[in-house]
Order: sequence, then C-alpha cells, then structure tokens
Amino acid sequence: MRNRSSLLMMAALAVLLTGGILLFAQSADSASSEKDRGHKPYTELAKVPEKARAKNNPLAEDPDAPLAGRKLFEQHCAECHGNAAEGGKKAPSLRAQEVQQATPGTLFWILTNGVVRRGMPVWSKLPEAQRWQIVTYIKSLGLQKETPDEQKGPHEPANSRSPTEADDRSR
Ligand code: HEC
Repeated sequence: MRNRSSLLMMAALAVLLTGGILLFAQSADSASSEKDRGHKPYTELAKVPEKARAKNNPLAEDPDAPLAGRKLFEQHCAECHGNAAEGGKKAPSLRAQEVQQATPGTLFWILTNGVVRRGMPVWSKLPEAQRWQIVTYIKSLGLQKETPDEQKGPHEPANSRSPTEADDRSR
C-alpha cells in the first residue's frame, strides 16, 4: 500500500514538473517575439538584389501615373500606411528618407515580394503597370516640399519639370 501511494506522489510530481517546464518555455517564446517587435522597418530595402534595384521605372515620366498610383495606394495601402503614406499603427511612413532614397526598382521589388513575416503583403497580383504607378506616386511624395505651389520661386531645380513639358516631349 505504501509503495503505491509513493508511486502516485512521484507521478503527481512529474506532472507538475513538466507543466512548469512547458510554462517556462512558453514565456521564453513570448519574450523572443517581444524582441521581434522592436525590429526597425526599412531594413528590407537594403536586402533587395542589385539587379532588381537597377530596374528603371517605365512610368516614371508618365503624367497620369502619380494620380493613378495615388488611387491604387488609397485602395490597397492606406489602411496600413495611412491615407497620405504618412504611416499608421500597422505600418511605417513611406515619406521617410529610407523609402524616398530607395531606387524605383527597389520599391517595385518590395511590392512584388512583400516583407511577409513583418506584415507587409505581397502585391504580385497587381499588374506590373499598376505597381509602377504606385512607385511613381510614392516617389512623387518626396518631391513635394512643405511650401505651397504659389510660393515656388524661379529657383526651382533644373531637373524639375511640369507634366505639360513631358507631354510635349513625347509628341
Ligand atoms: C496589412 C498592412 C499593409 C498593407 C496593406 C501594405 N503594407 Fe507596406 N508595409 C507594412 C509593414 C508592416 C511594413 C514594415 C515591414 C518591415 O518591418 O520591414 C511595410 C513596409 C513597406 C515598405 C518599406 C519596406 C520595409 O522594409 O519597411 C514599402 C515601400 C511599402 N510597405 C509599400 C506598400 C505599398 C505600396 C502598399 C500597397 C500596395 C503596401 N505597402 C501595403 C504593412 C502593409
């Protein structure tokens, strides 16, 4: 009889011990995902392959691309990145230097491949032309200065162009 009860005690102890170990493992797990949340955005931009980076945006000069891109952005991206790409609770600003300094090819690659494990979806189901329009739109945000249009003096940078000029050139 005594033997039996000590056996039961052992079994109970074993159960308690495994439970404790499991709990410990779980809390260690959540500690590591806590660390993950401190990850800085934009680091993916530096990992884009050289060849993809160098790709030219075929719609960079297209006068319709910024507006079309903006509409697509509001449809697909704004819920996370904010209506004007200023950043939101779910995703970082796309007006940040890191994004604005990235080549168009880099942004296109990020759109095509996503950063899935960080919550940035893959957009390869959007036609390529639409992805380039979005890239043109994002890039256009970097050109907008804080000063309103009418305050723009004659000292605009030499490479700035108006959509009408671009129209003339393509004719
Ligand atoms: C479900 C939310 C969500 C949507 C929708 C979304 N994104 Fe993101 N995006 C993210 C998150 C989260 C990150 C940060 C990824 C990281 O930490 O690297 C990100 C990062 C980015 C980056 C920078 C890359 C980087 O490493 O941070 C770009 C550029 C970007 N998104 C563009 C877009 C565009 C354009 C769209 C619409 C076609 C879009 N995103 C839609 C969540 C989203």
